[in-house]
Amino acid sequence: MSRLAGKRALVTGAGGALGRASALAFAREGAAVAVVDVVDETAAETVELVRAAGGTALALHADVGEEAQVEAAVTAAVSAFGGLDVLFNNAGIMPHQDRSFLDADLELWRTISGTNLFGTLLFSKHAVPHLIAAGGGAVVNMSSFLAHLGTRFPQDAYAASKGALSSLTISMAVQLGPHGIRVNALAPGPIATAHVEQFFPDPQARQLRLDRVPLGRFGTPEDAAELALFLASDAASWLTGQVVVLDGGISCNYL
Ligand SMILES: NC(=O)c1ccc[n+]([C@@H]2O[C@H](COP(=O)([O-])OP(=O)(O)OC[C@H]3O[C@@H](n4cnc5c(N)ncnc54)[C@H](O)[C@@H]3O)[C@@H](O)[C@H]2O)c1
Repeated sequence: MSRLAGKRALVTGAGGALGRASALAFAREGAAVAVVDVVDETAAETVELVRAAGGTALALHADVGEEAQVEAAVTAAVSAFGGLDVLFNNAGIMPHQDRSFLDADLELWRTISGTNLFGTLLFSKHAVPHLIAAGGGAVVNMSSFLAHLGTRFPQDAYAASKGALSSLTISMAVQLGPHGIRVNALAPGPIATAHVEQFFPDPQARQLRLDRVPLGRFGTPEDAAELALFLASDAASWLTGQVVVLDGGISCNYL
């Protein structure tokens, strides 16, 4: 298991469900992983889990929307590992108050974009020069299937922030290809985390969503982590500028 042997990776939001599973998968495959989160306790737990599994990891504090903190975290990762080859912009928020554009609260829209979009922008701005210095690498961005699908239960600020990320992914890929850097995004459907389960107020609401999934189940953090690992690894060496939807077939399912 060495798909990222010798690589130096940074994962944002790596104290959370998908980020933690990804940090564990990257480390399992040989990468040294900088575990970045705004919550220090969960970042430290992820580092402990990586180390307990025999991997190398370092916890770093940063609010992805704060440029000085982002710059400091990137500098700390580079000085600890001697460089950077992989950036996974995973950190994101999906507040329950986010509904239709008709009820838009501009502060909430700013907050959501401030993390989901600006966080990816800032980490890319500060980390990519190190990937260039390393002679190439991979950036993986975390979009969502909601960037590409409408729903009767809108989360418009979230969806719009993720749609912008899908666009940014494409532009970054074109600019960074000549540097040997691939840029892709994954766009998961519902992954059954505690936070996502709270969007389903009762068993019927949960079943309504489940009935849309041809593969008959919600995703797991490991489903997302394995795709992020693939996109980060040389197995995807001719894949760039793509937003890969990972949703058990929901987006193929008309009725
Ligand atoms: N869970 C799903 O169903 C699902 C589906 C599609 C996309 N996603 C995306 O996957 C990513 C991870 O989601 P998750 O389900 O693991 O959520 P999560 O809440 O478990 O993890 C998110 C992590 O990001 C951190 N974070 C939040 N704001 C931050 C900030 N400003 N600076 C630094 N860290 C910050 C949190 O502390 C947390 O550890 C998010 O971008 C989310 O939008 C999730």
